[in-house]
Amino acid sequence: MLPPIALTISEVRAAVAAARRESKSIGFVPTMGALHAGHAALIRAAGISCQFTVVSIFVNPTQFGPNEDYTRYPRTLEDDRSLCGAVGADVLFVPAASEMYPDGFATSIDVRGLGDHLCGSSRPGHFAGVATVVAKLFNIVAPDAAFFGQKDAQQARIIQQMSGDLNFSLRVEILPTVREPDGLAMSSRNRYLDPTQRRHATVLHRVLEAVHALVASGEHDVTALERFMNGEVASTPGAEVDYARVVDGRTLQPIERIERPALAALAVRFGSTRLIDNVTLAP
Ligand code: PAJ
Repeated sequence: MLPPIALTISEVRAAVAAARRESKSIGFVPTMGALHAGHAALIRAAGISCQFTVVSIFVNPTQFGPNEDYTRYPRTLEDDRSLCGAVGADVLFVPAASEMYPDGFATSIDVRGLGDHLCGSSRPGHFAGVATVVAKLFNIVAPDAAFFGQKDAQQARIIQQMSGDLNFSLRVEILPTVREPDGLAMSSRNRYLDPTQRRHATVLHRVLEAVHALVASGEHDVTALERFMNGEVASTPGAEVDYARVVDGRTLQPIERIERPALAALAVRFGSTRLIDNVTLAP
């Protein structure tokens, strides 16, 4: 069944209120659309732990930099709606930018520290855009639980922090990265890759798996691990490293040795397409 589309804040609030009157718990999956199996896994997980699932589809302009892909970001609402129906979403919230950011909108949420490195360095302002829109969506939907992907590990940490700091009364759940059969993390941006770039894009997962194995075999020196990551990506045709870092898994700050849970994170450009992936590392 195709889920109904709520275009306005009052429509989605009415749908949630009706579900609440039936004593249903509310699960929420925020997305920017162009949905794939990674999003589907989040929507299914919401359906398993909650009785009414809201999916938002909103290409949020404030999290894109001036030279990023806001205007060409894929918009595939009909396909998205079918996928949402197939995996059990109960309502889609698809607001216009003017509904979310009316004239005079003036607030921004800055989660200090966690956004300093990794994607925060190459995408200034990105995480303020994400934190602000997610806080708005949390207030609009008021779910019991919200579901995010480990694929965007830094985003997930920032949202957990923001949600705790601002006392949102909901659970933030983080689900594992869903991958293509060859290991490439599913992403709405994979469709920008030409066939050659697509073949070489498996380097992200391959390198991260290799880092995981190196750490397991006793290599705990971060400089050596980062050098390895940079070298492997640099020798891949058409690939350009944006960052290749090993950071503290909780604070996302630079470390010298792996002594606590850590995160190896990669951002790689293929032409104008930027892909990210990560793996968690235990000492
Ligand atoms: P979007 O890129 O559409 O992703 C929506 C959610 O799906 C995020 O939580 C993301 O981590 C998750 N996701 C994406 N690819 C995944 C994969 N391969 N496996 C598992 N989960 C995956 O992230 C955003 O949108 C936006 O920044 C948003 C949070 C909606 C705020 O605008």
